[in-house]
Amino acid sequence: MKHQEVLKQAQDKIDELKETVSNSHWYPKYHIAPQVGWMNDPNGFSYFAGEYHVFFQHHPFSPHWGPMYWGHAKSKNLATWEHLPIALAPSEEYDKDGCFSGSAVEIDNKLYLFYTGNVWTGEDRDHDLKQVQCVAISEDGVHFEKDEKNPVITSAPEGDIHPFHFRDPKVWKKDETYYMVLGSKTKENRGQILLYRSKDLYEWEFMNIAATGEGNFGFMWECPDIFHLDGHDILLMSPQGMKPEEHKYHNLHQSGYCIGHFDYETGIYQHGPFEMLDYGFDVYAPQSTIDDQGRRIVIAWMNMWESDMPEQQHEWAGSLTLPRIVTMENGELRSRPVPELELLREEEIKYENIKVAGQKELDGIKGSCIELKLSIDMMDSSMFSIKLRTNPESGEETVLSYDSSTNLFTFNRDKSGAGPRGVRHVPISLNNNKLHLQIFLDQSSVEVFINDGEKVMTGRIYPDEKSTGVQFISEGDVTLDMVEKWNISKSIR
Ligand code: FRU
Repeated sequence: MKHQEVLKQAQDKIDELKETVSNSHWYPKYHIAPQVGWMNDPNGFSYFAGEYHVFFQHHPFSPHWGPMYWGHAKSKNLATWEHLPIALAPSEEYDKDGCFSGSAVEIDNKLYLFYTGNVWTGEDRDHDLKQVQCVAISEDGVHFEKDEKNPVITSAPEGDIHPFHFRDPKVWKKDETYYMVLGSKTKENRGQILLYRSKDLYEWEFMNIAATGEGNFGFMWECPDIFHLDGHDILLMSPQGMKPEEHKYHNLHQSGYCIGHFDYETGIYQHGPFEMLDYGFDVYAPQSTIDDQGRRIVIAWMNMWESDMPEQQHEWAGSLTLPRIVTMENGELRSRPVPELELLREEEIKYENIKVAGQKELDGIKGSCIELKLSIDMMDSSMFSIKLRTNPESGEETVLSYDSSTNLFTFNRDKSGAGPRGVRHVPISLNNNKLHLQIFLDQSSVEVFINDGEKVMTGRIYPDEKSTGVQFISEGDVTLDMVEKWNISKSIR
């Protein structure tokens, strides 16, 4: 079947079920989620012809992973989004079992997508697969044609490189040359990345294995992304299968970054340790782009592989994080929500100088789809918690807390409702005993930016519709210097 016909079948499926899905009380109002069916990684995040585009791994025919399509949405301001028709469907011999993750680059006023064509060659999904790299092109940013020269990279290079796990091309241009980094692993299952270069986007020369993991660094590195930021080359990626170490690496797979130097002559990347991008439960496969203001913006899948996803009962699964600007500060990456999200703020409620000793609720501070900004003075408090999505009848609550004796910030979703449970911690030291939180709730998610993006924690939660309370709790006296809350209404069509 031709690409267009396969796309049409998928689009028909979406039209049939999108009404049902939109009634799901867990469906987000201002985060990108599939209109119908399954989503995983963001793909092709780009700024093209004055608009932001994001694509995503998508299976429109069920709320479970399957042959991958590329869903698509665009935005003028990173706050309000519009769904577009599915961009890529698995339709050719070389991608018949999935158009896997990849990236987008604008070249001569056209949007080029680079993706991995996946084909199963037998029953063993870990071994019996063939992955090749492909191109699709669009003039209008909506309709994409797969290139006749596909696949442009037909097999993994020789050497200590696994022949089949070879995917997720991220392409960028430096001077007159295009570079492509790919996720890979050694034959002995150590994660690594491969570097290619090309003058014309079709002939790709393998340069080098840019970096290989040692020790506890995962059996496969997925979705690599290399970019320059403030004098450093950052490698963003998602290693599979790292073991927990203290407060790090507690999810099934990790996503994070290294700071280093990329040598454009040799294709070798030298780097420091792997750091977490987010200390919560649900961030995977982050991808970055740079916009016309030179901002480096990252968006990620807001789920984790093999997690319970109760929204599947409602014929959909998965969501993306908010877009976050990353900057280098004091040798670390900071992530802040893009300021354009302020466009979504409605019905402000504000309190100043509120004392909390024990438990407190504030009139109007509640909701399931809100932004909350808090400045907290911890001077006389040993422990402060904010409980979100609370419900006195059922006891549901999602708890964020800070313990001054251990300097640990904690996200606890043990009583959040349906779905996965658990606790995550991140060490935070306070300046002048002040804790600043910016929290985004959107029907089934929590993102908390701690101390102006110094650390971030993200997680999916599945409370009852009626669980909308917010409570402040302190052991000792806390002063809420400032509490601001805004409602957010639907901003994705
Ligand atoms: C990461 C990933 C990618 C792959 C895609 C398939 O989550 O496993 O490596 O391209 O998902 O959907």
